[in-house]
Amino acid sequence: MNVLVIGSGGREHALCRTLQSSARGEPLRLFCAPGNAGIEEVAECVALSATDVSALADFAVRERIGLTVVGGEAPLDAGLVDEFERRGLLVAGPPRAAARLESSKVFAKDFMLRHGVPTARHRVAASVAEAREILRGGVFGGEDTSVVVKADGLAAGKGVVVARSRAEAERAVEELMEGGRVGSEAGRRVLLEEALEGREASLLLWTDGRDYVLMPPARDHKRVGEGDTGPNTGGMGAITAHGVLDEETLARAVNEIVEPTLRGARDEGLNFRGVLFVGLMLTAEGPRALEYNVRFGDPEAQAILVRLRSSLAEIFEAVATRRLGELNVTWSDDASACVVLAARGYPECPETGARIHGLGEATLVPSAQIFHAGTSRTPDGSLLTAGGRVLGITATAPTLGQALERCYASAARISWDGMHYRRDIGRFTENSRQQEHYREQ
Ligand code: AMP
Ligand code: GLY
Repeated sequence: MNVLVIGSGGREHALCRTLQSSARGEPLRLFCAPGNAGIEEVAECVALSATDVSALADFAVRERIGLTVVGGEAPLDAGLVDEFERRGLLVAGPPRAAARLESSKVFAKDFMLRHGVPTARHRVAASVAEAREILRGGVFGGEDTSVVVKADGLAAGKGVVVARSRAEAERAVEELMEGGRVGSEAGRRVLLEEALEGREASLLLWTDGRDYVLMPPARDHKRVGEGDTGPNTGGMGAITAHGVLDEETLARAVNEIVEPTLRGARDEGLNFRGVLFVGLMLTAEGPRALEYNVRFGDPEAQAILVRLRSSLAEIFEAVATRRLGELNVTWSDDASACVVLAARGYPECPETGARIHGLGEATLVPSAQIFHAGTSRTPDGSLLTAGGRVLGITATAPTLGQALERCYASAARISWDGMHYRRDIGRFTENSRQQEHYREQ
C-alpha cells in the first residue's frame, strides 16, 4: 500500500518510522510531504507544502495513495480531509468542521458546555473594551486574581497568556487583539478563563467516530527553560509513565471528559475521526479539560509511538474505515521519554545552518531513537540545523528514570554551535510553583 504522511517535524518523523517498522503483510511505500532530512531515510519526501490541499490531493491521486495520515492542525483546518474524501481518497483525520474543536477555542468551550465536559469557567469578548468590562466586572475575582487570556484561533502556541492580575490580563487582551502577537483572524475574539491549578496531562486517543483506543497518557514541558521558566515553546520534551495519570483519575477523565466529548461529536454529526488530544488539568476537584487538539502532539507523539507494539498502519486504516473496534492495540509496559534539542534563539528567533555532530554515536545508546524535527542535508551529506526544534532524542526503559538516563546519554554525544536542551525533563514542579512561574511571565 502507498501511504502519505503530511508534515515535517519530529512528530511526522516518528509517524513515518513507526508506520514503516509496523508494516504487516504487504510492504509499505511511504511518502511524506514535505518531510525533512531524517524523514528522507524512511520515506520518499515530496516537495509540497502541508497546507497546499489541492496539490496534495493531485499527488495522492496520481501516486495511488491508499491511506493519508495528517501530522499537524494546519492542513486539517485548511480542509485537507474534506478535499481528499471528495476525491475518494482514504484519509485518517477529522474534516474541517470537526477540526474546529482545535481551531476555535470559543467553539471548543461552547461544545464542552453543551456536553457537560468539566472545564474552566470562561467568557468570550469580541473587543478590547468588552474584555475590559468583563474583567472589571469581577467574574473571575479581584484585581489580584490570575486570569487566562486565549486567542480564539490557531496561533502556533502563542495564543495563551496566564496573567497574574487584572492589569496583566488587560495587557494580554490588547496584545492578542491589537498587538499583532497572533494573526488578526486568530485574535478577533478572546476567551477569558478562570486559572485552574494542578498538574497537567495529555490524554490522546484514536477514534473512528464510534469506537476509540486510548494511548498511554503523556506529559510535556512547554517552557523553554529548566524549572518551567521562560517563554512557551511547541514542547521541549515529553514523557509517558505510569505516574502521569493514576487509575482513578484516568477513569474519571475517560468517563467525565473523553466519552461525553466523543458522544457529543457523534450527536452533532461532526464526523470526528483521527487522533483526539485532550489537554487536562488535574485539579483538586478532579480532571478538567483545558483544550482539545485534533492531532498528535509534538513531542508527545515521539514518546507515545515508541511504545506502540501494534501496527500503526493498521490502526490508521481502521480509523479511516471505521473498523477500530476490531483491533486489539497493544503497548510496551516501559516508560518513555523524549528530550528536544533546540537551536540557539529558540523559540523567538532560532538560528539555522549549524553543522550537527555525533548523531551516529548517539544512536548506539540502547533503545535511543532520534527523530529529526528541523534538519537539512548538504549535497556532501552533512546534517545542518534547519529549525528551532532540531532533534528529539527518545528512549524507552522499564522505569522513567532509566528512559531519561538513556535520552541524556544519547544527547550528550550530539553537538552543534548553539545547541540547548532542558536537563529536567520528567521532573515536575508542583502546582503552586508552576503558578509562580506563570506569574513571572
Ligand atoms: P491551551 O492551548 O489552551 O492548552 O493552553 C496552553 C497552556 O496554558 C496549557 O497547557 C496550560 O499550561 C495553560 N492554561 C490554559 N488554560 C488554563 C487554565 N484555565 N488554567 C491554568 N492554565 C491554563
Ligand atoms: N506539545 C503540544 C502540542 O503539540 O500541542
